[in-house]
Amino acid sequence: MKARVLSGVQPSGSLHIGNYLGALKNWAEIQTQYESIFCIVDLHAVTVYQDPKELLGKIRETAALFIAAGIDPKESSIVVQSSISGHSELAWLLTCVTPLGWLQRMTQFKAKAEQQETVGSGLLQYPVLMAADILLYQANIVPVGDDQAQHLELTRDIAQRFNSLYGETFTMPATRLPAVGARIMGLDDPTQKMSKSATGAGHAIGLLDEPKTIQKKIARATTDSEPAVNSERMGPGIVNLFTIGHACDASITKESVTGMRYGDFKKRIAEAVIARLEPIQKRFREITSDAAYIDQVLTTGRDRVLPLAADTVRKTKQAMGLYVQGIG
Ligand code: TYM
Repeated sequence: MKARVLSGVQPSGSLHIGNYLGALKNWAEIQTQYESIFCIVDLHAVTVYQDPKELLGKIRETAALFIAAGIDPKESSIVVQSSISGHSELAWLLTCVTPLGWLQRMTQFKAKAEQQETVGSGLLQYPVLMAADILLYQANIVPVGDDQAQHLELTRDIAQRFNSLYGETFTMPATRLPAVGARIMGLDDPTQKMSKSATGAGHAIGLLDEPKTIQKKIARATTDSEPAVNSERMGPGIVNLFTIGHACDASITKESVTGMRYGDFKKRIAEAVIARLEPIQKRFREITSDAAYIDQVLTTGRDRVLPLAADTVRKTKQAMGLYVQGIG
């Protein structure tokens, strides 16, 4: 039997090159080796306010980008989190075994809470819902970017605690980071992670950005006061651009860029990014020209994983001594 992979993306903004290099590219590469489930985690997105008039469009756009980035819906199940009630149901059951202190320690919670006037309790529970996504499918491997590593550790802690309280119920998931691109930084500030929620125009390269926009953003990216690339002493801005370039085109190596003046180096990186995104954008336009296709993919994905989700919820309830219809 193939090991199972699960991962997810929030449809909370436009996907960027960090999401691609940290997650989607890796998913597309490993999907055939595993039984893969990729989620559009809309219940996570609503932990901060989302405009209801826009959210559905973003959910469909995210699904289309999964496929455009190489996730094959025949090979992998693409599902919307809220279409499977097991995610919320298991999240509640896991909430009941999760100490408050574990959640208050999460660095993403602390960072996001600082940006909100009112901190919704959903933001605190966010990693429990993420644990539920993973444990619901008894996933063995979770391919993510570096920023999710702490949530994955928490997932294992929750699973372990549940298993020791109620008996072996959940598979212990392993974190899988990409070799290159696990943490892409903002172009405007290479000390900050590139993020969907950052608003600066020069912060992120969107997967659907036009070539001209990509050129401009990279040309304006923050570097340092050196005139040319010195592979022995790269500042954080140059390291970040190099990482993006190398992940998009493996022929960009330290040797190949050493001595390049920053202007030329940036042009070379922009070229590599544009070439990498062009087929994804083309495929995205094809996919979205057929209005019914995405909904079909999402229905098929849901139908495929539903029995597994129901089975885990039933097992979990049984382990806890809850009422399970039709059983003892
Ligand atoms: P999200 O939507 O913020 O990001 C989706 C994926 O992209 C990765 N990523 C990055 N990788 C490299 N550099 C960056 N700057 C960068 N920014 C984002 C993330 O690590 C992630 O893999 N909580 C998750 C979604 C989630 C999930 C799950 C993931 C919900 N349930 C279950 C795995 C398993 C999140 O907010 O990802």
